[in-house]
Amino acid sequence: MKLKGYVHYVGVNDRNKHRFEGLWALPSGVSYNAYLIADEQVALVDTVDAAFLSEFLDKIDALGVDRVDYLVINHMEPDHSGSIAQVRQRFPDIRVVGNAKTLEMLRGFYGEAALSDNYLQVGEGDVLKLGHHELHFHLVPMLHWPETMVSYDTTERILFSGDAFGCFGALNGAVLDTQMDTTPYWPEMERYYASILGKYAAPVQTALRKLSALPIDMICSTHGPMWTAEAGRAIETYRRLSAGETEPGVVVCYGSMYGNTQRVAEAVAEGAAEAGVRTIRMHNLVEAHTSFVLADIFRYRGLAVGAPTYNGGLFPPVEHLMHDLGERHVKGRKLVCFGGFTWAGQAAKKLQAHHAKMGLDLVADPMEWKQGASADVLERGRALGHLLGKAVLAEQ
Ligand code: FEO
Repeated sequence: MKLKGYVHYVGVNDRNKHRFEGLWALPSGVSYNAYLIADEQVALVDTVDAAFLSEFLDKIDALGVDRVDYLVINHMEPDHSGSIAQVRQRFPDIRVVGNAKTLEMLRGFYGEAALSDNYLQVGEGDVLKLGHHELHFHLVPMLHWPETMVSYDTTERILFSGDAFGCFGALNGAVLDTQMDTTPYWPEMERYYASILGKYAAPVQTALRKLSALPIDMICSTHGPMWTAEAGRAIETYRRLSAGETEPGVVVCYGSMYGNTQRVAEAVAEGAAEAGVRTIRMHNLVEAHTSFVLADIFRYRGLAVGAPTYNGGLFPPVEHLMHDLGERHVKGRKLVCFGGFTWAGQAAKKLQAHHAKMGLDLVADPMEWKQGASADVLERGRALGHLLGKAVLAEQ
């Protein structure tokens, strides 16, 4: 598929994998995007997951190129680097292009043979002239690995951005944003960001500042559509998410063994609704895939977390979520917590302890109750939700 200038799409779709990185749900699959620039000098930009090597090589062959001069590696995570060694076998004269960290990782993952001595080490601002196209390299460390870089084609104003601006969701026929309904991909970009890049807001902001000087007509990331008409929206989405900007909504996350914590969670949601909050997302953490929960928490300002006490601690799915939030330095959220117990209360205390580490804006003392969700307990839950709703709406 020709994109612009001499750039062709040679990526593949993975509709088989259930969990990206073994963690994140893929209800609509994922694409591994790679690009071939069939210029005077022929360059591949990234490869694909090793499981799709054969299809990948077929796509390159279909373009009729009899040699590939360069393999530009923007990112070494194996969903993109997995086919490098075999690509080198197929094109023995290919020269690998990467920065110092890339080359070190290449050796570490795939051995000396994958690197050989035929490589070109590049750094910030270095240029590779292919003929019509001219690639300028910019290092964007921790987006989301230390070696990540982007390649910017000054001729056609194309940014090969690695994972940045990518999203979950396989590509269904078309690959350009102008040739498809992109609606399903936008929430998937936010879910991808929250899951994969969410910990790295500061490096994302640094990269956005660095790239802001580049005129960009097309973003070719390693996952999801190629952005042209909607490139600005993709950049704005990253700016908003990395800046921690939120919308006035409430996310209620809970785990429950026998329904008491769930009933309190419902009461909290009712209270928030009575306060005037119109967007309320409920997540039963026993059932929910974490990435969807994280995406909602990244989007909305209010967060309510509830759990029963379990083995003298937090109910495990809730502990897991708090760990994930702490890892991602989620800040600037209005928070309420509620925890039940049967004989020795710990859930509310543990939630409080998590909050102390995370530094969110705790709207009220954690609510604690013993045993069943009585009418009185539910009323307290409703009042807690009301307080949260008011706090969320007060900060417009
Ligand atoms: Fe798509 Fe970080 O690999």
